Amino acid sequence: MQEKIQKLKSDMLVNLKAASSESAIKDVEVKYLGRQGLFNDIMKSLKDLSDDDKRIVGKLANETKKELEAAAEKRYSELEGEKLDAIADEEWIDVTVPGKKPAVGHRHLISKFIDDLEMIFAKMGFSVADGPEVELEHYNFNQLNIPDDHPARDMQDTFWLKDLKKHVLRTQTSPVQIRHMETHEPPIRIIAMGKTFRKDSDATHSPMFHQIEGLMVDENISMANLKAVMTQMLQQIFEDTSIKTRFRVSYFPFVEPGMEVDCTCPICHGDGKLDTGVPCRLCKQCGWLEIAGAGMVHPQVLENVGYDPKKYTGFAFGIGIDRMVMIKYRVNHLRLFFENDLRFINQF
Ligand code: DAH
Repeated sequence: MQEKIQKLKSDMLVNLKAASSESAIKDVEVKYLGRQGLFNDIMKSLKDLSDDDKRIVGKLANETKKELEAAAEKRYSELEGEKLDAIADEEWIDVTVPGKKPAVGHRHLISKFIDDLEMIFAKMGFSVADGPEVELEHYNFNQLNIPDDHPARDMQDTFWLKDLKKHVLRTQTSPVQIRHMETHEPPIRIIAMGKTFRKDSDATHSPMFHQIEGLMVDENISMANLKAVMTQMLQQIFEDTSIKTRFRVSYFPFVEPGMEVDCTCPICHGDGKLDTGVPCRLCKQCGWLEIAGAGMVHPQVLENVGYDPKKYTGFAFGIGIDRMVMIKYRVNHLRLFFENDLRFINQF
């Protein structure tokens, strides 16, 4: 009987070793240790032995069964290890291979420029105000001293909304001035930036473009303040402290007096020609670039929002952002900003 047990044990161990899958191990377990298995046959035949033999053989049988159960368990975990080894052999990683750099995008040049402007004005104490792109005629024109029949409306070829009466795609950021003044009391020091729309399209005009609007209202605000703010802003954005500004008389219905702000050309520094003597193409040799419309806020506009024009004065300005970006980065066609050609975008 003992030999039978030994034989069964060694047979099962051989079989276990050969089992190369979980289900093969399971089969071996069932064959030897299962309820109908070979081991149980031996257990059943114990009853024919003498009491002494029963004790000795029974003990051996029990121990052997335990051993074999443990051997099966061990084979399961061996197999798991073999599987992992196989995966490790097949799926190894060469950690010395240089990494692949993921393509990381960046903000659009115009967005970056807008952020830069915002920082410059923030340092001068301006906060940022906002207004809708679909604007009421009332704010885009009337409150800015441009009544229904005013010829100044023709200066801005407007997109009127068909289904929303008296609404336009704002032609300028100036309506944000009105919205802000209607809801705030002086002192006011704000900028408003964003998209504006006109029926225009050529190398320097597109139907959608960006403007920055500035407004400062308080007691005793003068054109000197306007000049200081414009000069500071231009020197910082063009990173050139030699830049000078000048005012030229102009007309905008919501300011009086109204003016154009010019700055010395950042390429030829006002000379009209480069150091090499080559004529400056950016300023067309005049040494100055037109940068902004500006002026002292018209008393009528102050009255429109309920301010006392005898007590308060203010200046306002409006600048085409896209044009400034073109000047700073020497971009020769406005369309490049909006075509999203990566060869252009990735240069900045
Ligand atoms: N809104 C004007 C335009 O789009 C620009 C402008 C001129 C804004 C004079 C102003 C200003 O605030 O005072 O042409």
